[in-house]
Amino acid sequence: MARNWRVERVEDAGWRALRDLRLTALQADPSAFGSSLDRELAFSEDRWREWPQASACFLAWESDGGAEQAIGLAAGADREDGAEAELVALWVDPEHRELAVGKALVSAVLDWARASHRRRLSAWVTPGNAAAIGLYERLGFVATAAVRPLPSDPQLSELEYQLPLDESGAPVPTAR
Ligand SMILES: CC(C)(COP(=O)(O)OP(=O)(O)OC[C@H]1O[C@@H](n2cnc3c(N)ncnc32)[C@H](O)[C@@H]1OP(=O)(O)O)[C@@H](O)C(=O)NCCC(=O)NCCS
Repeated sequence: MARNWRVERVEDAGWRALRDLRLTALQADPSAFGSSLDRELAFSEDRWREWPQASACFLAWESDGGAEQAIGLAAGADREDGAEAELVALWVDPEHRELAVGKALVSAVLDWARASHRRRLSAWVTPGNAAAIGLYERLGFVATAAVRPLPSDPQLSELEYQLPLDESGAPVPTAR
């Protein structure tokens, strides 16, 4: 079946849809994220409203005639040195996976990172997450040596992947 979907940056008024999909993601795939459902269920409305203001948040929407459903989420967050941004909260609804929605969401974050002159986009992922690692490698991310405990479950570790961006914002070719 042909699917009709698009990726859009979340404006201030979109915070509810963002919150609802983020909570769904944390419930569905807890080991994919450094945060947890319990932690974020306790967030105040102000905190949810602040997220799309402080970070570049994107939702993928599927339209089915008149009805629209949020089916995927990703965000680009600032890192302290200003040269780097981090890809966080990437999630696609299981019924819409392997349809290039994840690739489109990460590409939207990459476009934002390029437009804001970041030199690198980083992402943290657990070693068993073949889908996310496959997606990052497909887009040119490479593993750095960095490993850290997953904050939501310190028995698990997560690996850092990075995509270097040159001055013009184009991905820097990596040696093979
Ligand atoms: C990771 C995730 C976002 C991928 O989303 P998706 O929409 O299914 O991915 P896409 O269809 O855009 O796939 C893009 C590429 O990723 C890779 N990929 C996707 N699913 C894969 C899988 N199950 N195994 C291996 N590689 C996979 C492929 O290289 C694919 O490119 P190709 O189809 O041209 O070969 C999705 O599986 C998900 O939400 N997982 C749970 C949450 C999560 O792990 N988030 C990341 C936290 S670090």
